[in-house]
Amino acid sequence: MENQEGKRITIVGTGYVGLVTGACFAEMGIPVTCVDKRPEIVQMLCDGKIPIHEPGLEPMVLNNYAEGRLRFTTSLPEAMAESNVYFIAVGTPQGEDGSADLQHVLAVAREIGQNLSGYVVVVNKSTVPVMTADKVRAAIQEELDKRGADFKFDVVSNPEFLKEGAAVVDFMKPDRIVIGVDDQQGQAAEIMRRLYAPFNRNHERTIFMGVRDAEMTKYAANAMLATKISFINEIAGICDALDVDVENVRRGIGSDSRIGYSFIYPGAGYGGSCFPKDVKALLRTAEDCEVDPVVLRGVEVRNQAQKKILFRKITAKYGNDLSGLVFAVWGLAFKPETDDMREATSMVLLHQLIGAGAKVLAYDPVAMDVARKIFPKDWLDHGHLVLVDHQYDAIKGADALILVTEWKCFRSPDLHLLKREMRQKAVFDGRNQYDPKEIKEAGFEYSGIGRR
Ligand SMILES: NC(=O)c1ccc[n+]([C@@H]2O[C@H](COP(=O)([O-])OP(=O)(O)OC[C@H]3O[C@@H](n4cnc5c(N)ncnc54)[C@H](O)[C@@H]3O)[C@@H](O)[C@H]2O)c1
Repeated sequence: MENQEGKRITIVGTGYVGLVTGACFAEMGIPVTCVDKRPEIVQMLCDGKIPIHEPGLEPMVLNNYAEGRLRFTTSLPEAMAESNVYFIAVGTPQGEDGSADLQHVLAVAREIGQNLSGYVVVVNKSTVPVMTADKVRAAIQEELDKRGADFKFDVVSNPEFLKEGAAVVDFMKPDRIVIGVDDQQGQAAEIMRRLYAPFNRNHERTIFMGVRDAEMTKYAANAMLATKISFINEIAGICDALDVDVENVRRGIGSDSRIGYSFIYPGAGYGGSCFPKDVKALLRTAEDCEVDPVVLRGVEVRNQAQKKILFRKITAKYGNDLSGLVFAVWGLAFKPETDDMREATSMVLLHQLIGAGAKVLAYDPVAMDVARKIFPKDWLDHGHLVLVDHQYDAIKGADALILVTEWKCFRSPDLHLLKREMRQKAVFDGRNQYDPKEIKEAGFEYSGIGRR
């Protein structure tokens, strides 16, 4: 099975971005081979098991695998043999100095250089700092030179803007498709245009630009969103101090079309595999080119503090020694609709609570298996942390309920049950999901983020 170019496309890395990208291209009738270096992940996928939780992904992967449009392998050379477009969608974690660690991206580039046998387009889909395309180009060229081979290739930047938890919908109906190319009339641009044509049927969503412009666009987008969150969190802190209700302020400013309602929800900090590392990487980039990133630094500092705000509110009520106290935690994933716990606020909070002597009963609708692997075994063995099977098992005998992730199932708690089962009646609402008046009238103490 071949695409218009007579070839399959290759996606390297089958994580949140790679697997969704592969499945969505296959769904549009484009044959795809997904490559991952972890054999256990490839085996799972070949067995019809999806290693991540992402709404709508499973049926798409299973169907396209059954139809032969989607294949999985650990061998990049094998995939390359029948492909002329290679997407790099591997991780770019935070390096020790805050910059993006490019080792996985460059390892793929070198492997491409070692196996190249004709013209190809190499597409950087991973989030990478400005000038990474130059490094990828150099790594491929170096490998070609080593074996005296002379093949043409283009390196394109095509950053991904999908949101975990809505990744499939975002990929199928993107707000925009950003493609950075050296020559907008060239062969690589034409191949990318044709590849993304099925996603542009309703209206043209593709924005062509220079390679470095595209690399920067991704960081600027994430930094802007993180800035909105940190901004409203700072406002919420001021509201808390002045007995002002930030929920009214949020609605008051959101109604201004220049501001808008999205991404101005106060809460206990942002997490995930993108915002924290991308803000830090951009900070690092700015410093490297001698720009003082005062705004970005503030965004980062505010978020670090925000992840600790629930603990601050808890110790203000119960004191610094939490021995003998039991806390119910609802939500462990960094946000709803995902099992991803990377940089989640729950990680910070649980370390603080258990470090102060408390016992935690925690529940998340999908992240329990991930949690079991991440948290220290010692906590589970000694009962400092109990991962319960149902949200209401967490509240039995609890001294407070702490909402950390705003899953829908937590939105309308059974207050009668809470009242009957909890030892002390207190709710710490880390995502401003509840009506303070209603919770207080039911006989609970309520503490939100800037709520009155
Ligand atoms: N997760 C998101 O919401 C999101 C959104 C937009 C952009 N991004 C960016 O996309 C990139 C990928 O993110 P992710 O969340 O999908 O990562 P991930 O950690 O979920 O997956 C990366 C995969 O790449 C594989 N891999 C690493 N090196 C490899 C190699 N040499 N050959 C083959 N496979 C290899 C890993 O085994 C892993 O399965 C990152 O740069 C990230 O910043 C992520």
